[in-house]
Amino acid sequence: MEQTLVIFKPSSIQRGLVGRVLDRFESKGLAIAGMKMMQLDEALLREHYAHLVDRPFFHEILDSMTATPVIVLCLRGVEAINVVRMMTGSTNGREAAPGTIRGDFSMSNQENIIHASANAADAEVELKRFFKPGEIFDYSPATMKFINGPSEK
Ligand code: PPS
Repeated sequence: MEQTLVIFKPSSIQRGLVGRVLDRFESKGLAIAGMKMMQLDEALLREHYAHLVDRPFFHEILDSMTATPVIVLCLRGVEAINVVRMMTGSTNGREAAPGTIRGDFSMSNQENIIHASANAADAEVELKRFFKPGEIFDYSPATMKFINGPSEK
């Protein structure tokens, strides 16, 4: 099983889309392993978006991501990192495929509803960045045997 980080950005909270987006993940068969609301600050965002701090739009990321609290989510499932990335769609909502979260709910590069970890290395670092020890729970949903076959781990 893999675990991955999703951030419900202020755009999803302000537009009242949290329930609809969360429903997609639950309906897919991903387990919620951790979930909390938090206010991001500049220091944490400089770390999270370190590869973008020198880009001209970085101050817009700061404004956008601190506009309201966000909700951080840890999802668990077989190949969860790739499954969630595929469900999320391309960064720019205008180019994201219909049927993906950004393709269905976003018209923007910046206000693109959620962040999702890009790969296994990022997921590990990002989950530690946003969750403290004890905030991610290891339990087995009762529906598990109807979500994956026994050899799918
Ligand atoms: S890049 O450009 O390929 O290195 O960027 P990427 O790793 O795909 O992540 C881009 C994140 O920055 C947010 N953002 C923007 N991207 C492009 N252009 C503009 N103007 C912009 N403003 C904000 C974008 O939403 C991506 O955030 P995440 O949280 O990763 O989806």
